[in-house]
Amino acid sequence: MEIKKVRKAVIPAAGYGTRFLPATKATPKEMLPIVDKPTIQYIVEEALESGVEEILLITGHSKRAIEDHFDSSPALEMELERKHKNDLLQLVRETADINIHYIRQKKMLGLGDAILCAKSFIGNEPFAVLLGDDVVYNPERSALRQLIDIYERYEGTVLGCQIVPEDKVSSYGIVAGNPVGDTGLLKVRNMIEKPEPEDAPSRMAVLGRYIIEPDIFEILEQTKPGIGNEIQLTDALFELAKHKDVYAFAFEGKRYDVGNKLGFLQATVEYALRRSDIGPNFMEYLKEVIKGNGRLDKI
Ligand code: UTP
Repeated sequence: MEIKKVRKAVIPAAGYGTRFLPATKATPKEMLPIVDKPTIQYIVEEALESGVEEILLITGHSKRAIEDHFDSSPALEMELERKHKNDLLQLVRETADINIHYIRQKKMLGLGDAILCAKSFIGNEPFAVLLGDDVVYNPERSALRQLIDIYERYEGTVLGCQIVPEDKVSSYGIVAGNPVGDTGLLKVRNMIEKPEPEDAPSRMAVLGRYIIEPDIFEILEQTKPGIGNEIQLTDALFELAKHKDVYAFAFEGKRYDVGNKLGFLQATVEYALRRSDIGPNFMEYLKEVIKGNGRLDKI
């Protein structure tokens, strides 16, 4: 039987983003820029680079800026044309060329409920999920591409994971399993959302990249609210693992937890340093800061 291709991706972006208040009161957290590009654009680009053909964004109220960002902007384009700012014009046009579908999650009942909103868009095929809280830098092979490659070989749901420090396990879905085939690949036998460190079955955390079989929708329809009184995708995936093969795969790449302030700042600094236009000057500035030993009056 031919393996079904992963053609579609779902990007949930309906959450309130409370960890970034007050910035996220009227601005979606997905629009916060890492240097000069909104976080959501890094995620959309990763999906496209990985071979995904169609993207569904799950939004909610106060998220209209995301739709505007991926729309055309005739007045701005005319102005850039008039001023002969061709590089900027190309940047603006490129974002409008990306074809994205949108659906609104009416009540923020949790990530599991957000994924359930994608049921009719996905139909009966495997699909990718990317969360904007995790940005992964891997210029050779994106995190999602690595998961798709595993999916195509093992034909089961694949969860993108990395090891996190023990004091961070309570922030993630944690999995445990038995090693199979490829390096870094486990067949999942246990999964817990946000466990206390003493209850965590391992330090292997699910980090915002998934390839999921469509059987998940039937399970999500039956999933009761779990921790935080939210419908948890982790709970539904664990139920799926009881009936079908679910794999956890340790993907390669530098991952930034941009859902929290420190992680967001780390991503900003490192992405800026990698840029050829501002990287060298920014490095000089950082050296000055360090010379002052953190004393701002010495800068
Ligand atoms: P988070 O809980 O990390 O996102 O959900 P949040 O709620 O936006 O952030 P904080 O904790 O209040 O700061 C993980 C992902 O699931 C989406 C979020 O947008 C985020 O991408 N999500 C969460 C939904 O789409 N709908 C929900 O009901 C909950």
